Order: sequence, then structure tokens, then C-alpha cells
Amino acid sequence: MSTGLPFAPASERNREPILAALKPRLAFTGRLLEIGAGTGQHAVYMAAALPHIDWWPTDRSEALEGLGGRIAIEGPPNLRAPTALDVSSDPWPAGPFDVVYSANTAHIMSWQGVEAMAAGVGEVLRGGGPFFLYGPFNVAGNYTSAGNRAFDEELRGRDPSMGLRDVEALDSLFAHHHVHLQERLPMPANNQLLVFRRQET
Ligand SMILES: C[S@@+](CC[C@H](N)C(=O)[O-])C[C@H]1O[C@@H](n2cnc3c(N)ncnc32)[C@H](O)[C@@H]1O
Repeated sequence: MSTGLPFAPASERNREPILAALKPRLAFTGRLLEIGAGTGQHAVYMAAALPHIDWWPTDRSEALEGLGGRIAIEGPPNLRAPTALDVSSDPWPAGPFDVVYSANTAHIMSWQGVEAMAAGVGEVLRGGGPFFLYGPFNVAGNYTSAGNRAFDEELRGRDPSMGLRDVEALDSLFAHHHVHLQERLPMPANNQLLVFRRQET
């Protein structure tokens, strides 16, 4: 039976491997900012499995109705009501956050958006805190699969400002904001979980 809530089948498939990678890296109490929470499926599932994490979901204002609807119905107590954050144009919530998490956003927002995200993460993340960025990425300018190539072509056909980003470009962009790439974890279906860490201040 349909719940009427926005639903992304991919989120049901990738939430388990993402959580398995997050869990051992989030063995502390803290405040987590999620960027581009979308349907809220990740937020609900992961916040429930990480009750010691105070989860703050955000997205662009147009996504808030569906996101808030899911959280109101399914959200555990440590999952906050969502707030508006367009990384390019909204004021960022006041930090510091102990963790920042974002899935499947870097290829949807423009490169200027990714630049704004890097600046914002560098600003709100506490020294030593991790930033997790999940999605399909290119490596050294190359697609890692035929499926990723097709997805990139489909995105660019829809909007030329979208598209898969290079891990190396993300590495140097975030480093400019004192957020350094430390781990590249391969994930199912040719995705990766990039684990960055904010330099101590
Ligand atoms: C493909 S969805 C991913 C949703 C969810 N994180 C997931 O993995 O299922 C991309 C999300 O990025 C958000 N987004 C795009 N541009 C953004 C921006 N400039 N600032 C914040 N979020 C943005 C969209 O609103 C959308 O919810």
C-alpha cells in the first residue's frame, strides 16, 4: 500500500551498506548535519540505528514537505524536524556539528553548489569531525562502470550543470577548506563512500 510519501528504491538498496560503513566510524555521541536528505529514507533508517547521534536533516525548501512528512510518521526521537538548506543560497545552521553526511548530492547540485557545500562543511564541522559523501564518482577522469557513464550522460542531458564529479577534484576542493579526504570505500553498484576529516583548528 502506498504511503503517499516520496520514495526512492535506490535508498532502500544502499542504506544497509552505508550504515555498515558509518557505524564503526560514529561510535561517539554527537550532532550530525545531513545535506540533501531527499525522501528522508536514509535519515529515518540511520538515525534509528544510531540512537546516540542527534540527526539534523536538511534539504532545499521544495523537498521539505515530503521529508518532514516521512520524519513525522517514521522518525525516531533522535531525528529532528528538517530545516531548509540550499547549500548555495541559504544561511547554514549554526555549528559546530560533530559529523556531516550527504548522499547522492554532488552530481545533482552544480559544481558551484559543490563549491558552496565544501565551504559550508569547512565552516560548520568541528575540528577532527568526519564528513561522509556517498555517491557515484569518477576516478582520474574515468568512469568506473558503463552504468555510471550512462547515468552521467542522462544527468547532463537533463541539465548540463549536473554530472558525476571526479574524486580528485573533490579532494582538492575540500582540502582548500581544511577538509581532507582520508578514505575511499567502495560500495555496491559502483558507488563510493568518501570519508573526509576536518583539520583540527
Ligand atoms: C538524488 S537526491 C538524494 C537524496 C538522498 N540523500 C538519497 O540519497 O536518497 C539529491 C538531493 O540533493 C538535493 N540538492 C540538490 N541541490 C542542492 C543544493 N544546492 N543544496 C542542498 N541540497 C540540494 C535535492 O533537493 C535532493 O533531495
